[in-house]
Amino acid sequence: WVLMVTAQTPTNIAVIKYWGKRDETLILPVNDSISVTLDPEHLCTTTTVAVSPSFDKDRMWLNGKEISLSGGRFQSCLREIRCRAGDVEDEKKGIKIAKKDWEKLHVHIASYNNFPTAAGLASSAAGLACLVFSLAKLMNVKEDHGKLSAIARQGSGSACRSLYGGFVKWIMGKDEKGSDSIAVQLADEKHWDDLVIVIAVVSSRQKETSSTTGMRETVETSMLLQHRAKEVVPKRILQMEEAIRNRDFASFAHLTCADSNQFHAVCLDTCPPIFYMNDTSHRIISIVEKWNRSEGTPQVAYTFDAGPNAVMIARNRKVAGVLLQKLLFYFPPQPDTDLNSYVIGDKSI
Ligand code: DP6
Repeated sequence: WVLMVTAQTPTNIAVIKYWGKRDETLILPVNDSISVTLDPEHLCTTTTVAVSPSFDKDRMWLNGKEISLSGGRFQSCLREIRCRAGDVEDEKKGIKIAKKDWEKLHVHIASYNNFPTAAGLASSAAGLACLVFSLAKLMNVKEDHGKLSAIARQGSGSACRSLYGGFVKWIMGKDEKGSDSIAVQLADEKHWDDLVIVIAVVSSRQKETSSTTGMRETVETSMLLQHRAKEVVPKRILQMEEAIRNRDFASFAHLTCADSNQFHAVCLDTCPPIFYMNDTSHRIISIVEKWNRSEGTPQVAYTFDAGPNAVMIARNRKVAGVLLQKLLFYFPPQPDTDLNSYVIGDKSI
């Protein structure tokens, strides 16, 4: 027999960024962060997990290709889920798995991203969140989303925020073991559903410096990070929570853009410097900044993760239409140009 569970998890984009760990093994951050979870139709991971007595080892396929599971992060997630597994019964198939049997059983995992992997579109976030969620379902783990977020966090920090829709805050926590470093939902997906996300896929190539390596080097060498984590982010988190509560787009946009820019400044302050954005990214920033200034109040917020792709948040559907026209004018999609595709999250975020 084979027992299977399939789950789908959207990716999330941070508007107040997580960058830097105080504990690399447990993945504990140096500051709180806030993200928006995207509409699952556009950017998501779909994962199927299966268990069978005939499987002789744990195996995983990502986008159809088998990948190694020897990494410590995957093993920690699997261990944390396995030790919380419950009894499982499927009467129709005549399957009964007792809690203690999970120790001996192996899982097969197949995961698909409907967007470029490791190109700075938070693929690890959706991937690990989906893995933890589907394994928890398969093994009948009875933990709440907060606890599951702490497990997903040990797979990839940003993954803990993908277990909820809407606006999500990852609380850095104080505990050395990370028990209070969890994600909480600030507002659900219906709270501010005028917002529309437009992503310009500037490059679908794999990034040169992974987030994990990049943030390690930043922690080791950047003075600016200390200032950011201690002085800047704590205030911004409060301001961002208020902007979200009041659906105050002007403040939301101001904070989002400023935080993205400071994150990339911190990358430049790293030795050797890390460049995630490219000329196209910089041009997009200029176009949005000019437009926002000419309107007198922000229409669009932009943010860039560890890659050159632009994530833009328009204040409403009409603005998103104009934004897309502008982008198509400045960067007409052609197969051999850098910027050749757009993803539009036209539903609520
Ligand atoms: C720039 O979560 O990918 O997207 O915890 O080492 O797996 P690890 O890093 P990861 O870093 C994400 C960094 C970011 C900002 C963010 O999502 O908050």
